[in-house]
Amino acid sequence: MNEKHQEEKIPRQSVIIASNRGPVTFYRELDGDLTYQRGSGGLVTALTGIIQEVNATWISYAISDEDKLWGEGQISLQNNNEVFSLKFISTDEAAYEGYYNQIANPLLWFLQHSMWNVPYAPVIDRDTWKAWEAGYVAVNKEFAYSIIEQLEKTPKPVLVMLQDYHLYLVANFLRENTSPRLRPTILHFTHIPWPGPEYWGVLPPTMRQAILEGLSAADVLGFQTNADALNFLRTCQTYLPRASVNYKPQRVWYRNHATYARSFPISIDVEQINKAAVSDEIQAYHSEISDLVGGCQLVLRIDRIEPSKNIVRGFQAFEEMLELYPEHRGKVSFLALLVPSRLDVEEYQDYLDALMAAAGHVNAVYGTFDWEPIRVIVGENYARAIAALKYYDVLLVNSIADGMNLVAKEGPIVNQRDGVLILSERTGAQEQLNSGAIVISPCDVYATAEAIHQALVMNYDLRAEKAARLRWLIEREDIREWFSQQLAAVEELNL
Ligand code: G6P
Repeated sequence: MNEKHQEEKIPRQSVIIASNRGPVTFYRELDGDLTYQRGSGGLVTALTGIIQEVNATWISYAISDEDKLWGEGQISLQNNNEVFSLKFISTDEAAYEGYYNQIANPLLWFLQHSMWNVPYAPVIDRDTWKAWEAGYVAVNKEFAYSIIEQLEKTPKPVLVMLQDYHLYLVANFLRENTSPRLRPTILHFTHIPWPGPEYWGVLPPTMRQAILEGLSAADVLGFQTNADALNFLRTCQTYLPRASVNYKPQRVWYRNHATYARSFPISIDVEQINKAAVSDEIQAYHSEISDLVGGCQLVLRIDRIEPSKNIVRGFQAFEEMLELYPEHRGKVSFLALLVPSRLDVEEYQDYLDALMAAAGHVNAVYGTFDWEPIRVIVGENYARAIAALKYYDVLLVNSIADGMNLVAKEGPIVNQRDGVLILSERTGAQEQLNSGAIVISPCDVYATAEAIHQALVMNYDLRAEKAARLRWLIEREDIREWFSQQLAAVEELNL
């Protein structure tokens, strides 16, 4: 959609966004004042890029006690004067625990990233069922009630944009509990991969059907890739009784209602990240990064501590590369900036232990008095991450499965060394960026090692050509495009 169209369209629409994690988290300053900082994760990055441009209310779960205390009100982001409404909801802790730490993560997340080792896991026992009923279903209902309250006071027409795998049931609760007068247009965007029906067979029919019914109550379903959208249609055809699936218009007809499945690849706010890259805050990290790298070539990864990111195999590949090409020893540093994530979930805690052990092993085998091959820094620091992205020679994104992966888009935009992107073929980003990247199969440690070597020795002209191609691909479809494509789909379908 062109800019003019976008300008015409947005003011007419009120938008309610609902997501588990809010755009900000509140905390108390030393003097006792409540203040907030921007949240982490791809979803927040994506939506904060456009939030100021629409008449928006954002409804999220209160993650911190201070979020609960704050409740609701107006906030602004990125030192911008434009404000939007933010409202936190909460339930009792047990419900949240079941919803977030048992059903959303790991059950659905692992399923959708093809990570369950099915002979052993998941084990769906009484406790899981309790987490489903008293957690996932209950919190989804709370979101729906809060949206309905908001619908009652919002100027029409309203577009409700539901986000992600935490909220699969909300659209159905909204439809069941709103009169035609209040009924909004509902768009649900799934930020993570949607695997084929064979994977969904792991879930018991009651859960699976509730999820498919929930999504089939929306008007438009957004996925990162068309392969995800088609997988959704195949899943409905296989598991949703009495649904009629038509692949040409990519539509499910269920209970007298049409739902369209589309792909809207998410992106980054190119303008905002370019501005951030030259800010004083980020410049302040330059010397820290250059001290860490110590004159070596830099292989970088930036991820949440997350099994689907395949961090352990990344370290194994680096080790293999040092084994195969001894000329790189002492001359290349692998810096891993890792953000703690979901550490209340056992699988994540175990993964942190595993990756620390893997990095320690490489350092023990190859490290010398003045060269530590792998540096792992755990913590959340956006400014340091952007500073590091400016200086990589190689950016490694080797996820086992990834809805999109925004690091693969942020890196090439801010990088100043014509660094090479190594990208897993199982990321959504690969569909758009493969022509500018070295594409690898994520379990193939040997091929990843070869790719790292190839990237380190790539001649200048080829590096520059690939880097320019990546920048062009990312700039032409930034976050505004993601948002306007969704509005255009709603309009085209006359919803
Ligand atoms: C990643 C995924 C998003 C997801 C988010 C949740 O960024 O790409 O789809 O919503 O993680 O992360 P959280 O830290 O809130 O569990």
